Amino acid sequence: MRIARAHEFGGPEKVVIDEIAAPEPEAGQIRIAVKAAAVNPVDWKLLSGKAPVLPPLPLVLGGDVAGIVDAVGDGVDTWSVGDRVFAHPGLTGGYTEGIVLDASFVAPMPKAASFSDAAAVPLVALTALQGFLADGRDLSGLHVLVHNAAGGVGNAAVQIAKAKGAKVTGTASAANADFVRSLGADNVVDFRETDVGSCPSDVDILMDLVGNSQETGMWSLIKSGGSVIRIAGGAKAPPEETVDGVRAYKVRVRPNGDQLAELSAMMDAGKLKSSIEQSFAFDQVEQALRASMGGHVRGKIVLVVAQ
Ligand SMILES: NC(=O)c1ccc[n+]([C@@H]2O[C@H](COP(=O)([O-])OP(=O)(O)OC[C@H]3O[C@@H](n4cnc5c(N)ncnc54)[C@H](OP(=O)(O)O)[C@@H]3O)[C@@H](O)[C@H]2O)c1
Repeated sequence: MRIARAHEFGGPEKVVIDEIAAPEPEAGQIRIAVKAAAVNPVDWKLLSGKAPVLPPLPLVLGGDVAGIVDAVGDGVDTWSVGDRVFAHPGLTGGYTEGIVLDASFVAPMPKAASFSDAAAVPLVALTALQGFLADGRDLSGLHVLVHNAAGGVGNAAVQIAKAKGAKVTGTASAANADFVRSLGADNVVDFRETDVGSCPSDVDILMDLVGNSQETGMWSLIKSGGSVIRIAGGAKAPPEETVDGVRAYKVRVRPNGDQLAELSAMMDAGKLKSSIEQSFAFDQVEQALRASMGGHVRGKIVLVVAQ
């Protein structure tokens, strides 16, 4: 089988396609014949060799897969060969034609979704969902501010918050404003153009997907008792802290098949849709990574691994 991997750290040109034997599932695991994977900013950050914790080499990037179960390990009775599934395998491992995963990481693919649509969802939607769960409140009636609503995590966060009954404001450039409204956002603002002080300070939850919300004064928009979910930034912050009366939670996404099944059901119900800006063939992985590095992706970039 083909696998895209880097034998040394560096830029996207370091990722090459190798041929290896397919891995065999052990007890409690399944193997997925991967049809599509997705690209996330963490991929090129890990590849650069400048992440605080370096992954081992050779490095297989990729935090999303969608495909068909083609082998089942001992003791697994939740999945059968032929099942259409998707998963967040962790931050690495997804750029491959065959991946072995713990059976509990996996969820049934949304019934009507293509493999590409499914692969565009796990990492980003789990990040958003786990962020809201860290706050712990019922979102119904709360005002959620998604800072960077047009990117991968943001487009999932807007839809999940709306599905759970929140009022949503998203930050985005003028070019992405209509896209963010189409996801269900009630308001769109760009704090690169608009003074923070001119905005209403009635936010219950600020989800920071840029990492600059504190420095740019956005925390002043949060009501007493409100919270910040730090998805980007806060590298040195503790998991939870209270700063100037604002509760701040640092969230790092984790695999979770049960939560992914909830997201799959939301997709079946039409409440969560993939937004794919660009698809690349598997052997165009270098170009796919470069597109993500540009920093202006609307929605997601997907790799079509196999037909
Ligand atoms: N903690 C975790 O577990 C976790 C999980 C997933 C992602 N992350 C991190 O979260 C961040 C977002 O990830 P992502 O996948 O959503 O990124 P992404 O898809 O690459 O985000 C691209 C989008 O960001 C927008 N953007 C950039 N600066 C902005 C600003 N100041 N205000 C509003 N929009 C802005 C761009 O819009 P324009 O074109 O208009 O600039 C573009 O649409 C990344 O740093 C990523 O590494 C962390």
